[in-house]
Amino acid sequence: MRGKGLLPAILFGLVGMVVAGVAVGFAAGHYTSRVTTVTTAAAAAPAPATQPTTSVDPTVAAGAHTFVQFACAQCHGALGRGGVSPDVPALTTVGRALTEQQLTHIINHGLGESKNPTKPYMPVWGEVISGTQVHDLVAYIRAGLPAVPDTQPVAIPQGQGPAVAGAALYVRDGCINCHGPNGLGGVANPLSPDKSIPPLSGGGFRHDFPTDKAIAAVIRSGSVIGRAPIVSMPHWGGIIPAQDVQSLIAYLKTLK
Ligand code: HEC
Ligand code: HEC
Repeated sequence: MRGKGLLPAILFGLVGMVVAGVAVGFAAGHYTSRVTTVTTAAAAAPAPATQPTTSVDPTVAAGAHTFVQFACAQCHGALGRGGVSPDVPALTTVGRALTEQQLTHIINHGLGESKNPTKPYMPVWGEVISGTQVHDLVAYIRAGLPAVPDTQPVAIPQGQGPAVAGAALYVRDGCINCHGPNGLGGVANPLSPDKSIPPLSGGGFRHDFPTDKAIAAVIRSGSVIGRAPIVSMPHWGGIIPAQDVQSLIAYLKTLK
């Protein structure tokens, strides 16, 4: 947003200075001072094209992006503030209550789940998320999950049909991290019988999940293969609305 506003601000500021001189009221003064800041910064050191507008600790910033990328935000709410499902806690106080080691362990190993999950459970991420990413997530949680610019989850196109919405949901809900782009699968899950997380495309998948109903059932209930460090299919019932499940299925049907 700041990036978009900058060019008009510079133009307006310059025009303001040339045409009306120094005193053109509060608004122009505001823009002019911005222009001055930019010019000074550029003169001091040639700035890269994507100069950050605010200063955020890079580790905390990386954690904020990872929090959205892995759909932590879809279950725990934006900024970990909860409110999505009564079964998923907010994370706003856990950073003070738990140590770095405890948080790292929870993210890598989950918190245990029944063989037949009937409600959302904390997934096992250790095989899917790198040590660096877990470290960043823990730093972000311990920093109190501050707002970081440009971390909005991908927008869902409206009025363009369920398959288009489903393709975006596949990213926003983090399916892509486990099932790969285009539902190709192949993410390592070494201790599981298949040794990798299954694809959501291809003949084998269509044979095992021939109907919308069968696909919807496994998305809603999840499917637990074994204990951590085995990665299982999360339970999305109560998290992903029924209409979004239908859109995800419509998208999966467009794949190979
Ligand atoms: C499918 C929904 C879901 C997703 C996605 C998810 N979680 Fe969780 N998480 C849960 C649930 C449910 C609990 C509570 C489990 C329990 O207490 O047994 C939980 C618990 C936690 C806790 C412990 C909270 C406490 O108060 O003890 C942390 C920390 C946590 N999650 C972090 C994360 C992070 C980081 C991510 C992203 C990498 C993530 N979660 C993704 C559902 C989810
Ligand atoms: C944490 C990793 C993870 C995430 C995130 C995840 N899945 Fe899964 N999913 C799995 C695993 C592992 C299985 C295999 C379960 C089994 O074999 O019983 C699976 C199975 C499935 C299946 C059945 C296919 C099969 O061969 O068993 C479907 C359909 C599916 N997932 C859809 C989704 C969708 C849609 C999303 C996003 C909303 C999603 N998954 C997110 C790990 C994940």
